Amino acid sequence: MDNQTMVTNLINTARKAFTQASDLKALDALRVSLLGKKGELTGLLRGMGQLSPEERPAFGQLINQAREAIEQMLADREGQLKAQEQAMRLQAEAIDVTLPTDLPRLGAPHPNTKVLDAVVDCFVGLGFEVVEGPEIELDRYNFELLNIPKNHPARDAQDTFYIDDNIVLRTHTSPVQARVMLSQKAPIRIICPGRVYRADEVDATHSPVFHQIEGLVIDKDVTMADLRGTLGAFARQLYGDSITTRFRPSFFPFTEPSTEVDLTCIVCKGAGCRVCKGTGWIEVLGGGMVNPKVLKACGIDPTVYSGFAFGVGLERITMLRYGISDMRWLFEGDERFLRQFS
Ligand code: DAH
Repeated sequence: MDNQTMVTNLINTARKAFTQASDLKALDALRVSLLGKKGELTGLLRGMGQLSPEERPAFGQLINQAREAIEQMLADREGQLKAQEQAMRLQAEAIDVTLPTDLPRLGAPHPNTKVLDAVVDCFVGLGFEVVEGPEIELDRYNFELLNIPKNHPARDAQDTFYIDDNIVLRTHTSPVQARVMLSQKAPIRIICPGRVYRADEVDATHSPVFHQIEGLVIDKDVTMADLRGTLGAFARQLYGDSITTRFRPSFFPFTEPSTEVDLTCIVCKGAGCRVCKGTGWIEVLGGGMVNPKVLKACGIDPTVYSGFAFGVGLERITMLRYGISDMRWLFEGDERFLRQFS
């Protein structure tokens, strides 16, 4: 076999071997076997020693051409294999963002929170400010300054959690009224949402821990009509335009006169049903004109200023809003219940 044929054969075998090299590792092994120190091309070159001096240049050129051809094939195949491997890796690592996940379900605002947000929106829209007070409260704020005398039944240990003689878990949000009157100047326009405590047994309408929202307005010439208008706006915003208020005389030590406020029954819209016991009205909150004794005790001159106040149970208005028949649902944290509000 002449040199030319040997080299041509080598190139042809190499071409075939390159197409068969299926990964970069096989390709590298092939490179070593063709171009390496002990490779085939080097082997051919060694044969040059047996050639005559005249034959050598042509043979050398032949070998160089073969080396160039093989190196080109190597580079081409390497490019192909790298592209292939990258394509495979991209495919293997691809993330299908449309697949369903095992992420935990997201929570949602508690029904109490939703209603409180609506109440806050309503009163902030009317120019009220939101204020908070402590849940562990001094007897002075919870009772004394609100004109609740020492012998008042609300002070009984059966109704109130006492920490000691002077400290209680607040039984209502009304003490925030006293705190604000003592620390701010009139005019005052606030609501105070928060947790309150009573030594009650748990049942469908009672819980030892619940929430109230207190309202207080102090200014010149504030009248019962302002209370009526404010609570009317509140009722309409929360339950719709067909809902109105009805005031019934009542008694609270910190308001004079005091009123119990009913709303048009949210279920029957006033026609009479089981929820409103046929009356067309449901009792939802207490309020009245701030007792001048309370104004005076809190440093506000009752000959210049007057005010109204009210207190409403958050659980009560939430239950009415969503037709929840048992208060315990609001405290038990059962997901089957809570999920219905997400
Ligand atoms: N603090 C009262 C209660 O817990 C509710 C209340 C009634 C608050 C009349 C007031 C009010 O501000 O004027 O039952």
